[in-house]
Amino acid sequence: MHATRTDTTPILAEAAMWAPSVHNTQPWRISVDHEEIRLLADSDRRLSTADPDGREMLISCGAALFNLRLAARHLGHTPEVRLLPDHQRPALIAEIRLGAPPAAGAEDDSRLYEQIPRRHTHRGAFRPGPLPASLLATVRDAAYRESAALGIVADEGARVTLGALTEAAEQLQRRTPGYAAETARWAPSPGSTRADGVHPSTYPNRSARTEPFYPGRDYARGQGWGARREDPDELITGTVAVLTTRGDDRADWLCAGQALQRVLLEATAKGVAAAFHTQPLELTEVRELIRTRLCDLAYPQMLLRLGPADVEPGSVRLPVEALSLGGLRP
Ligand SMILES: Cc1cc2nc3c(=O)[nH]c(=O)nc-3n(C[C@H](O)[C@H](O)[C@H](O)COP(=O)(O)O)c2cc1C
Repeated sequence: MHATRTDTTPILAEAAMWAPSVHNTQPWRISVDHEEIRLLADSDRRLSTADPDGREMLISCGAALFNLRLAARHLGHTPEVRLLPDHQRPALIAEIRLGAPPAAGAEDDSRLYEQIPRRHTHRGAFRPGPLPASLLATVRDAAYRESAALGIVADEGARVTLGALTEAAEQLQRRTPGYAAETARWAPSPGSTRADGVHPSTYPNRSARTEPFYPGRDYARGQGWGARREDPDELITGTVAVLTTRGDDRADWLCAGQALQRVLLEATAKGVAAAFHTQPLELTEVRELIRTRLCDLAYPQMLLRLGPADVEPGSVRLPVEALSLGGLRP
């Protein structure tokens, strides 16, 4: 028997809610109508300076879409997804029909569904220890299954170069009023009761100087905010990886978001967390340099570090009721 609207909506909305999003903007809304779910982008939450084309907004929506697909399966349905179904309605990201129960022998992804609320962004150094080759194979396969690629940056020179480009982009953004104002808008001060944005409890009060150094975003803006954390004895950068796609249009960005979330949930299941450094990908010239020199002409969508980490305090979310707006029209 199929679940009805009233009992499926909170499960679907909560799954979408826990997806990662740039600056925790949570730029999505969902509406559920019987067995059809609509995922909509909320462009009022797009970063107009760092993300004028909405690339990071759509990566975030893609991550939410992947969670919706897992939630549909959890509810006993095969999700039937139509991506960007209507060119006249660009905010309409996907229509997902709750289809028939999965066929006997279909993959059981309840393991990934359970990781949705456990996954958190890591900011800082990792515990020592290489990631097992089997885990690297799993996360690469995860990206591939969503029509993206996760390139593990094994070459030391390339790791140093990406770290240096991250540092350069971070410094340029700090000096550019538009970026600084945008970070200020999405990084509330301590004690704020906002249910979005990056709060000081979720970032360290100083960037761990890993070698090579991958600086964090300037969420504290010189105010000394951020959680005090003991630096480990060794400041481990972790495994550097670049998520890429062959094309660079809106559908590719949604694939990148779904791939990102599949990668992150597979990693979480194995006790591995991810830190993101997307500053260099927000500067057109630097992104192009990374694409042509380090990504074999594939389009870099996310720059991340993976490694074993202690669980950090979770970030805030808008209440489920605020996401499941039946009334939002694309
Ligand atoms: C497209 C995208 C870009 C991101 N860029 C960064 C980044 O540069 N630095 C960072 O610390 N976190 C980055 N994040 C992580 C978000 O800040 C994080 O998902 C959000 O604050 C919610 O926290 P959570 O992932 O712990 O649930 C990014 C996430 C996405 C989806």
